[in-house]
Amino acid sequence: MLKNEIIQILKEIPLFKALSEEHLLKISNEFNINKLKKGKTIFYQEDESTDLYIVLEGAVKACLIDPEGKELMLNILKKGDFFGELSLLDGKPRSATTITVADSVVGILKREKFLTLLNNNPIIAISLLSAIVDRIRMTDDMLSSMAFLDVSRRIIKFLLNTAQKESKMTENGLIKIKKITHKELASCTGASREAVTKALKILKFRGILIEKNEFLFISKDIEL
Ligand code: CMP
Repeated sequence: MLKNEIIQILKEIPLFKALSEEHLLKISNEFNINKLKKGKTIFYQEDESTDLYIVLEGAVKACLIDPEGKELMLNILKKGDFFGELSLLDGKPRSATTITVADSVVGILKREKFLTLLNNNPIIAISLLSAIVDRIRMTDDMLSSMAFLDVSRRIIKFLLNTAQKESKMTENGLIKIKKITHKELASCTGASREAVTKALKILKFRGILIEKNEFLFISKDIEL
């Protein structure tokens, strides 16, 4: 990836948007750029590392994985998002495992370099805090779904949220979503694969969810 391509991406990243061209050039020189194939683990939960990562291309998931391999998805980081800020800030082991979900390019910034940058440009702290606050809100929302909604409702909520992000709608008020595996749905809703399979069967039987070819259809007006 060329230096000016990196600077162009950095310019659009909320974390760095207040920085001058000169600063961006300096940061781009301090990045290590890593190209990764889909499915590559970047680091594991409990690893002792403190670098900050920025997604320059592709997408990365942050997830928790239990000893049996069951996964709980925490977040999907896309172009312009950063991750690894928790260990960077508190120096403790990684709170989650991160894996690429598409061929990706990530920029890696050493902790000391980021802290120097932060010292010289305290404005960055505001963007950093605001992103962390967003993540806390998302986690609260996920906790609330897991505590108060049954698996069918969690699946519907997840599908509606996904559709909202991708703004997919068909003419007759139905939302069209690309099919997703039971394993992935389980990871995104905090349910077991068996519970997801059972809930999907019920949703289809009741006509709430329609499966056709590679897609799922759901009414946009459905109430949780
Ligand atoms: P860190 O703990 O250094 O490494 C794992 C990363 O996953 C973490 O920093 C965050 O960037 C990200 N992460 C961990 N928990 C969450 C969460 N609940 N929501 C969003 N991102 C998270």
